[in-house]
Amino acid sequence: MKTQVCIIGGGPSGLMLSQLLHLKGIDTIVLERQSREYVLGRIRAGVLEHGFAELMREAQCGERMDREGEIHHGFHIAHGGRLDRIDLHKYSGGSSVVVYGQTELTRDLYEARDRMNGAVIHNAEDVQPHDLTGSRPHVTYRKGDEVVRIDCDFIIGADGFHGVSRKSIPRDVLREYEKVYPSGWLGLLSRTRPVWPELVYARHERGFALCSLRSQVLSRYYIQVPLSDSVEDWSDEAFWAELKRRLPAEVADKLETGPSIEKSIAPLRSFVAEPMRYGNLFLAGDAAHIVPPTGARGLNSAASDIYYLYHAMLRHYQDGDSTGLDQYSEKALARVWKAQRFSWWMTMLLHTFPDTIAYDRRLQDTELAYLFSSEAAQRSLAENYVGLPF
Ligand code: APR
Ligand code: PHB
Repeated sequence: MKTQVCIIGGGPSGLMLSQLLHLKGIDTIVLERQSREYVLGRIRAGVLEHGFAELMREAQCGERMDREGEIHHGFHIAHGGRLDRIDLHKYSGGSSVVVYGQTELTRDLYEARDRMNGAVIHNAEDVQPHDLTGSRPHVTYRKGDEVVRIDCDFIIGADGFHGVSRKSIPRDVLREYEKVYPSGWLGLLSRTRPVWPELVYARHERGFALCSLRSQVLSRYYIQVPLSDSVEDWSDEAFWAELKRRLPAEVADKLETGPSIEKSIAPLRSFVAEPMRYGNLFLAGDAAHIVPPTGARGLNSAASDIYYLYHAMLRHYQDGDSTGLDQYSEKALARVWKAQRFSWWMTMLLHTFPDTIAYDRRLQDTELAYLFSSEAAQRSLAENYVGLPF
């Protein structure tokens, strides 16, 4: 087989790039290791920054998001028994975020690819990129006993944190930066009314908690748990009781509980791989960087990679100008690190870790007191939360 751009990974990053390039007449093949049912069964985060929502519209995939997603102009931080609000709209120059599940967004992208007869190959085993720095870049994969070869101009590594693409960059070229936090988030999805109209991030001495939502009848809640805990350690009753303890009374009193539809634990990890380009291979999204979910930056960090790659590919194919491709890694990493900084900051502000000493806790108190006494501090939070410009 032959294509212009071979994309490894059929998550939001890979699908979005494939869709955008297709609309400009650039041919792609997406190779996904899992079945579609598996990919669409994963529950992921649910806050889209303004820029990502725009990209969905540009990709002609924004219709359901615009119909069913909720626009949020602010969120709350609960701390010390108080419930303070961050006015995103006021402090970000009129911007906002869209609450829309990443699982639904992935479904929309798959449907768009199908509508346009896009090539998305599921259950592709042993995917392997080859000749990254040579003149014949290609990707091989196995389907049953058959090994298939795809010749291409470029390979995109959009295969998430555990993918094969990053690992194919030689060790003496790749630099990895990692910070692992000693906790995870236990998430629970339930068919209940959201406790609060906007998201509530809660700092509490028993640990962090978050009240989020997918719609007016579907809620998503999280509590910080030790890394050693597993989902089986937490019955639904135990989850609800612990969540209530970590929320201020005015919120806890309104909490509607019910059976869980899904429960899972996500580790808190910050990670960046540099460079994001090696020869004809370009990394994008979780394949190159991970953030703890606290600042809702995961998908949004991927969005700028896709935006830069898309425009760089357009310039290459339409004008024969490869400046954008040459600058991709540096440009993408500059924004990636800002999302890392913000996610780390919000994580450290709101979590109590086993190694958080009394001094750190007083600093957290002070940081929160400063935040809610300073318009400049709230402006800084808001501009990062709605997303820095691409
Ligand atoms: N071959 C082919 N596909 C692979 C391989 C492989 N060797 N390894 C992984 N994949 C697939 C995964 O099954 C997954 O569907 O690549 C896809 C990567 O998707 P994501 O992990 O969702 O990563 P990405 O598309 O970059 O999405 C950005 O933002 O909010 C965060 O983590 C969240 O997924 C989200 C991410
Ligand atoms: C979610 O709804 O899953 C969610 C929202 C905000 C975050 C993280 C996760 O910061």
